[in-house]
Amino acid sequence: MRVLIHPTPELAIDCVSNLMIARLARQPDAVLGLATGGTMEAVYARLIAAHHAGRVSFAAARSFNLDEYVGLAPDHPCSYWTYMREHLFARVDFAAGCTALPRGDAADPEAEAARYEAEIAAAGDISLQLLGLGSNGHIGFNEPTSSLSSLTRIKTLTHSTRAANARFFDRFDDVPRLAITMGIGTILRADEVLLLAYGAGKAESAAAMIEGPLAAACPASALQLHRKVTVVLDEAA
Ligand code: F6R
Repeated sequence: MRVLIHPTPELAIDCVSNLMIARLARQPDAVLGLATGGTMEAVYARLIAAHHAGRVSFAAARSFNLDEYVGLAPDHPCSYWTYMREHLFARVDFAAGCTALPRGDAADPEAEAARYEAEIAAAGDISLQLLGLGSNGHIGFNEPTSSLSSLTRIKTLTHSTRAANARFFDRFDDVPRLAITMGIGTILRADEVLLLAYGAGKAESAAAMIEGPLAAACPASALQLHRKVTVVLDEAA
């Protein structure tokens, strides 16, 4: 695990976006694993600016997002489909049909999870997986006690995760209780993993991820098993 600590969030965000741009320059047809959440908003803003400056193209790439809330249709304002359209997809040059998220409104969410897992495998798995970090140590929506070899499936969100994400909804009670998420096993099959966390709120989970025991209590600690992980932090994290 390579750990890069930057003095400020801005420098950590620059570092992550530059590493993504470098991977796409080496491999324009990379399969990107993408994340949502507050942490990624600035990363996507940097990628959009780089795209407009002619420094990066997504035209040959594909993407799979980590997760989606069960029950939210792609056009729901709080869905991760909407987040990705607004923060990245509508503003760069991905080819039509080359960006994927699980369907939160699928009639059979378990079948949708299995379909999504198979679609990722059929694409040859993820080349570069971008991750944020939950303050409880989750990656994707793999909450503490998740199986370290899990595949894409339905997870129940913890109260703390629902509380952390309530800022994106009108009311706490509107935050869905279930999500479809890539599993830890799915994430570990990626060729390369790039995790970004900043702010003091992530310090405890970052320490558990990097220095703690390999344990389902901190799902991100499973990244210790991966041979090519870069963790980018600011000093506070
Ligand atoms: C989002 C995701 C989550 C977030 C994590 C951090 O797709 O998979 O694991 O990366 O909850 O969220 P923020 O960035 O909002 O602190």
